[in-house]
Amino acid sequence: MNRLTSEDISSVIRDSTIISPFLLIPDTSCCFYTDTMSPLRIDGQRLMSRIMDLAEISPIEGGGNCRLALTDEDKAGRDLVVTWMKDLGLSVSIDVVGNIIGTWNVGHGAPVMTGSHIDTVRTGGKYDGNLGVLAGLEVIETLQQAGVTPQRPFAVGVFTDEEGARFAPDMLGSLVFVGGLSVEEALDINAIDGPRLGDELTRIGYAGNTPCPQTPPHAFVELHIEQGPILEANNVRFGAVTGVQGISWQELTIVGQSNHAGTTPMRLRKDPVVVVAEVAKFLHDLALRFGGNQICTVGKIDVHPNLINVVAARATMTLDVRNTDEMVLRQAEQEIASFIAEVALREGVTTTVRTLARFEPVQFDQRVIDIVHRHTTDLGHTVQYMPSGAGHDAQMLARVCPTAMIFTQSKDGLSHNAAEYTSPEDLEAGSNILLQTMLTLAETDFS
Ligand code: GLV
Ligand code: MN
Ligand code: MN
Repeated sequence: MNRLTSEDISSVIRDSTIISPFLLIPDTSCCFYTDTMSPLRIDGQRLMSRIMDLAEISPIEGGGNCRLALTDEDKAGRDLVVTWMKDLGLSVSIDVVGNIIGTWNVGHGAPVMTGSHIDTVRTGGKYDGNLGVLAGLEVIETLQQAGVTPQRPFAVGVFTDEEGARFAPDMLGSLVFVGGLSVEEALDINAIDGPRLGDELTRIGYAGNTPCPQTPPHAFVELHIEQGPILEANNVRFGAVTGVQGISWQELTIVGQSNHAGTTPMRLRKDPVVVVAEVAKFLHDLALRFGGNQICTVGKIDVHPNLINVVAARATMTLDVRNTDEMVLRQAEQEIASFIAEVALREGVTTTVRTLARFEPVQFDQRVIDIVHRHTTDLGHTVQYMPSGAGHDAQMLARVCPTAMIFTQSKDGLSHNAAEYTSPEDLEAGSNILLQTMLTLAETDFS
């Protein structure tokens, strides 16, 4: 394998006897080439065909997917990806929380790792997570076909329950992978529909025996769709992701007094739904008042008994509160807690709060961020440094090894939506950035 620097390009161009047509293409400077001097490029059609094959499992109206973690649909997706890994000759390990790691055992030392997740939210798109896993396989297949052997093993991770939509917290598999949550605690978490995570893993045949925490990789890089509107709005094609904002997930349960909707005077009610409405509005207003990167969402509300003519007995709502600044995030949490206490007193209800996830903002490794940025520029694409609004497995890997991410544009900023879309050209170009980045990471000494 040859790696050409700008200086190499200049000297090659000076030496007309070895000039190659590829070298005149401006976007191929400073990249890894094959021994025959052809630039390493992934196969965009093969990548798309895997993305579409995976999307055929559990399709939903509008072109997306419902593959909630550890459901039968998730199992079918996992089985397909494992088949692809085996077809590429990867050694496949399943760990005690169901993370699937496919490793191409070449070179020496700890692997350069990539990957993401294939679980989705209930109304997910085709690309969230899936891209990162399938681009990893595509990078390996490209190198294998080109006869290029990296200096270190390359590993692709499929992390369990990144979404956290069925089992909180989000990024659960990668959190356990790095030792941020004990295996016992993780296996004991209950799904929103009841079952225990450990039992669901066994049921779908993905309760593996590789222990966690696992040995840290040499470095980690994840390709992901942006899932937001910033790149498109700025007319910039890729993001070199600098970190991930802090996430606070809470579940608020409000218990009131169930009663007859026709006979109970308004002044005598203890109505949990009124509190739900007030808390939801408070969160919305708080985010606007704080401004900056403050984000608040109420995405799930359950009311019991959920009938037209009954003042509810109980309501449960989720609070998703995020900020890139830990101090501001704490301030938001405090103000929300005070408001809940105040409104509960006023409405005569009792409240309990359960923390579902709490992760501080994460800063990625500047060296890896810069490698991503440099390769994106060298491949001729526009790129900007940016933080991630969404949570990602990379934020957990960042605890144990040098890590960063690559973002591709999301059309209309849509994600967690069946209409999620990124063009095939961007998926291919992003995967080429991933390929170059992984090869550079393999050669980088981070000590
Ligand atoms: C994960 O998708 C998140 O909620 O950020
Ligand atoms: Mn994702
Ligand atoms: Mn997601």
